[in-house]
Amino acid sequence: MEKLKAHNPYAMMGDYDRAYSSFSFKDVEKNFDWSKTGKVNIAHEAVDRHVDTIGNHIALRYLNDEREEQYTFKDISILSNRFANLLKELDVVRGDRIFIFMPRSPELYIAFIGMLKVGAIPVPVFEAFMKDGLLDRMGDCDPVAVVTSDIVKSRIPKEEVKSLKHVIVTGQTSGNEISFNDIKGKSPDFEPAWLGLDDPLLIHYTSGSTGKPKGVLHAQRAMIGHYQTGKWILNFKEDDVHWCTADPGWVTGTSYGIFSPWLNGVGIVIRGGRFSPKLWYQTIEKLKVTVWYSAPTAFRLLMGAGDDLSKNFDLQSLRMIVSVGEPLNSEVIQWSLKAFNQPIHDSWWMTECGMMVISNYPTMPILPGSMGKPFPGVEATVIDDNGTILDPGKVGNLALKKGWPSMMKEIWKNEEKFRKYFKFDPWFISGDSAYIDEEGYFHFIGRVDDVINTSGERVGPFEVESRLIEHPAVIEAGVIGKPDPLRGEIIKAFVMLKDGANEGANLKRELMDFVKKGLAAHASPREIEFVKILPKTRSGKILRRVLKARELGLEVGDTSGMGDN
Ligand code: WTA
Repeated sequence: MEKLKAHNPYAMMGDYDRAYSSFSFKDVEKNFDWSKTGKVNIAHEAVDRHVDTIGNHIALRYLNDEREEQYTFKDISILSNRFANLLKELDVVRGDRIFIFMPRSPELYIAFIGMLKVGAIPVPVFEAFMKDGLLDRMGDCDPVAVVTSDIVKSRIPKEEVKSLKHVIVTGQTSGNEISFNDIKGKSPDFEPAWLGLDDPLLIHYTSGSTGKPKGVLHAQRAMIGHYQTGKWILNFKEDDVHWCTADPGWVTGTSYGIFSPWLNGVGIVIRGGRFSPKLWYQTIEKLKVTVWYSAPTAFRLLMGAGDDLSKNFDLQSLRMIVSVGEPLNSEVIQWSLKAFNQPIHDSWWMTECGMMVISNYPTMPILPGSMGKPFPGVEATVIDDNGTILDPGKVGNLALKKGWPSMMKEIWKNEEKFRKYFKFDPWFISGDSAYIDEEGYFHFIGRVDDVINTSGERVGPFEVESRLIEHPAVIEAGVIGKPDPLRGEIIKAFVMLKDGANEGANLKRELMDFVKKGLAAHASPREIEFVKILPKTRSGKILRRVLKARELGLEVGDTSGMGDN
């Protein structure tokens, strides 16, 4: 594959090799107030710090089908102070967990910053989750409060989560719920809780191949990585208009939807509502988006919507486009060159990483089909199953040397799961397989485990299986990711039914709906196959690897230990 010439040779990072050999994250610390005061709080650095300098710049542009609003940095600072004062009156203290469970709205962002000011630990979860999905997450970290909206609040398992004292609601309230509007009467002043760099920042729940979702706890120090990747990958300047299309329920939506731009004094765009190619192009045109961070499935859907549509919009404001979450096909990059007159830059990272760690930089030639090279200050490599570093071209486990500033602090209440990532200490094992070519570009191969990546969203098969077996007709279920040209993977479930259950299209639809209503729409299988028996290990674990190989028509491989099945 031919390399594309660097998109912007004048971007801030300068020459990649020079930056990689000379940069240290220590160099970045002087950009934060805490480097002088010793007082750490990300909300201060991302919002309050700007009030005296760029306080009147637009920090947040929000639009959906009904609302269109703008907030300056000063507005966000004051409103989040009011929210922090509300929390204080409710006796919320440093270290308390607070869930955010609501569709994207300005209130979500205000509440999020307010929680950080109190020193509470926000736990944002995607609005599509239903009761079971929420219970798994809330039951794990015992929140004292949740901020939600009248549209989704009925799904919150209030009775089951004993720690939950306060439900703060935007829109209609009932019973003893607290209205978000109560912040109007609160003081606009608030002194943030001053923390240390290693103190908690937030929790994002994410899925592994086994067990319940894991609470990835990040630390305040993550801001160092958020800030610098914004400068060198997104090439942020203060007059930029940044649109990160990810929901803040996922790590991309907080690290790059909020922190990275605001730490750099850059305003963000929030588009509420569903995906639609026309509305997305309209958003870019209307708000003059300059930096755009999105995912391959979205780009593929836009590509599928055709050039006739994109030609109707003025998209010339765009000057930097970056992608994350799934492999970015070179075909999509070629389309981008035509549709937007510039390439899309791939970036690779995970919830656990907190920041982009491998990427294509504006000053570096892009090799289409590759994820790019490690961020300066981060050491990345490929190692085999014994922890030995592999030569170029050899496929193995993508690993990062621990110690980059945004690396997770711990897995909430689960030291064992945390340690599993570091079985070859000091290497963090990502769970992805990859190889490095002779020129140092990293190439993604796939997941090593059973984690499913559907439209860039990480789904654990265990969660879906657990929900399916709650249905009265189901005995057992095995769930895999099946390759799909549009969504990367779709969720496919193999289901064993109880005797007498009525197989057929109706039951398949019913099961899909059952997962959607109990767990989450994005976790619902798109395909279901009824089977008489599921392949298992002797100890009774379902062999998803065998299901996948069968589905793809591949050799099933080593099945020793499979028992009689
Ligand atoms: C996958 C999202 C290929 C990968 C920030 C990883 C990618 C998982 C890429 C993390 C990419 C992310 N190319 N695959 N550029 N970026 N992935 O935790 O399998 O939701 O392990 O974090 O997404 O997903 P997560």
